[in-house]
Amino acid sequence: MKGIILAGGTGSRLDPLTRVTNKHLLPVYDRPMIYYPIQTLVEAGVTDIMIVSGKGHAGHFLELLKSGEAFGARFSYGVQEQAGGIAQALGLCEDFADNGKVVVILGDNILEDSLARAVKDFELQDRGGKIFLKEVANPQSFGIAEIAGDKIVAIEEKPKNPKTHLAVVGVYFYDRQVWDVIKTLKPSGRGELEITDVNNFYVKQGTMTFEQLQGWWGDGGESFDSLLEAANLAAKKQK
Ligand code: DAU
Repeated sequence: MKGIILAGGTGSRLDPLTRVTNKHLLPVYDRPMIYYPIQTLVEAGVTDIMIVSGKGHAGHFLELLKSGEAFGARFSYGVQEQAGGIAQALGLCEDFADNGKVVVILGDNILEDSLARAVKDFELQDRGGKIFLKEVANPQSFGIAEIAGDKIVAIEEKPKNPKTHLAVVGVYFYDRQVWDVIKTLKPSGRGELEITDVNNFYVKQGTMTFEQLQGWWGDGGESFDSLLEAANLAAKKQK
């Protein structure tokens, strides 16, 4: 299975830290933020990885990460001209995916859990998608899932009145249908192609599986506090 890391976007919530550099290059304890999703993929055996960044900083990613050899991986690079949404950034990876299944990680998501077993499970899953859920205290800041038994009923992006506290983590497994789904998307109220709309396609199709994340999870780009928390958790893990 191939891996995709999405590291475009504007990082406006972390201004002024992101005024001259890219959010995913900011330090999280002893390494740049993007090292964490890279390590998560490589540890799960996913070493053929495409990294999508915005046009302003694409050269910085190449300079820092190079071919991927130092990580035991092989990197390809894509450039998103405008921050048109997570699903738009993903759409740039269709040729790279070569009709196979993919695992996508948002470049600001830091996970304690290994994805090794989920990668194996999804290789065996007939078709569809797979996501991870994690209980959060501030559900208004995330995609939020409503579940019934072992099925997801619906996902709402940053709901004003969340039905649950189950956030959709920024790790997504998709089969090849994803490329056609992205082509049907219309920009949301905030002018973006939403990954939640992609996920809801699979939910409606009845082919979206999910797991609850066991370990801690940090969305380093959500706020200054989440960036600090991610650094503290990373430090604890490494000591
Ligand atoms: O972290 C999990 C959450 O990530 C999910 O619960 C939400 O459903 C999902 O929409 C997303 O919400 P965020 O508000 O955190 O997304 P953000 O705009 O911060 O983008 C997350 C990453 O996606 C960012 O680090 C880089 C990438 N991205 C984002 C945009 C808007 C791109 O590559 N291109 C883009 O245009």
